[in-house]
Amino acid sequence: MNLNPLPAACALLVGAYLASCASVPTSPAEVSAFAPVQTVLETNCVHCHGDNRLSTMPSIHDSHALAKLIGSGKWIVPGKPEQSRFFQVVTFPDQVPGAMPPTGHAISKKNVAILRQWITAGAKVPSGPSIQFTPRGEMPRSM
Ligand code: HEC
Repeated sequence: MNLNPLPAACALLVGAYLASCASVPTSPAEVSAFAPVQTVLETNCVHCHGDNRLSTMPSIHDSHALAKLIGSGKWIVPGKPEQSRFFQVVTFPDQVPGAMPPTGHAISKKNVAILRQWITAGAKVPSGPSIQFTPRGEMPRSM
């Protein structure tokens, strides 16, 4: 056997992970395509959705945590924003329980469009080393 051990290990993984194994390290193009999405999350979500939160809250403290939410039947379904719970909750009107961010702080139409477009285009997260997400600005208002 002269299989290179890295691709062999990758072959055990599925879906997005397979793609990310194939394209290590991160290219600048991947990072810049993802930047607007990262900004939306850092401005509106990351304050609460860190890695030490309620088990019911999907963790999005870095790009690898985000990547774990992506896939068929998961929080983010590539190509299908309307079927992605992660997207649905940002489009709920404030008075609907489960709207994100919680009560009184809907994200802008522009930011909704950025998330929609990203998921429609396959919800690509840069491969390679994880990118840390840092909360930006004020904590979005909670109930
Ligand atoms: C002020 C804090 C806060 C902010 C900001 C926030 N969330 Fe949440 N989020 C929560 C809490 C608390 C829960 C758990 C709710 C529960 O379990 O009932 C939650 C749950 C969720 C869930 C699971 C909901 C479900 O239906 O099961 C998703 C998806 C989610 N948030 C996405 C987001 C996204 C995307 C953003 C940014 C646009 C965001 N959240 C911003 C506090 C927040």
